[in-house]
Amino acid sequence: MSEFRLLVIADSHYASCGDDVVSGPSRRCDLGCEIVRRAIVDADRRGGFDAIALMGDMIDNGNSLRAADDLRAVRDEVRSASPNTPLLIVPGNHDGDPQRLLELFEHRCGLHKIGAYRFITFADSYVNDQICTRSQADRRLLMDEAENDGPPIIVLQHNPMNPVIVRDEYPYMLTNRTEVMADYAEAGVVLSISGHYHTGQALNVADGVRYFTAPAVCEAPFRYAMITLRERDMDVELRPLDGKKEDQAGIRD
Ligand SMILES: [Fe+2]
Repeated sequence: MSEFRLLVIADSHYASCGDDVVSGPSRRCDLGCEIVRRAIVDADRRGGFDAIALMGDMIDNGNSLRAADDLRAVRDEVRSASPNTPLLIVPGNHDGDPQRLLELFEHRCGLHKIGAYRFITFADSYVNDQICTRSQADRRLLMDEAENDGPPIIVLQHNPMNPVIVRDEYPYMLTNRTEVMADYAEAGVVLSISGHYHTGQALNVADGVRYFTAPAVCEAPFRYAMITLRERDMDVELRPLDGKKEDQAGIRD
């Protein structure tokens, strides 16, 4: 059985200028570009990959005057480190206008057929950069695609999906999470990949759908994820870039 390796990089929060940083000191926004490059180089050295997923919040302050330049800097790091690799991109709430991000990467959300998989990327809409909802059109897009015969479907969005995160001070979950998860189960989605929640969430399963939240690469121990897909099976390995011992919490399924 052939394997498909997906390199997942979440939440680099790059900021070229300290004045633009809106995050706390645990995030190494100044190193965002460098960390992305190191993740790609490290993954390449350790067996390579077939596609790269960038899970949003590539930059820290999408409202800054330097935001477009910072996005270009991240894009250029990715392109120079891995010029011919297919990309999957979901905008995050820190990236500013999602269309700007997608245009800079010459990318679009929706269906991407890569290898023996159907990947569907979503640009969910935010209110005040916090409250997030999946549009009815995007819900329909998935259900329409699921009616077609085809290879396994993998979905990607910035916000975590499962398990639920309840925090009084910050709304992590989609407002229509319950309905979206029901869609995923009905559509036979094999895997849902998220970012945004910086500690990450181990691979888990609900109603036959596997869920994974990649930890933020900008925070120690600077982990990226390597997902190895084998049709409907998979394993997820977390790889820290801080030079310390291999993360034994890497999830196996
Ligand atoms: Fe985020």
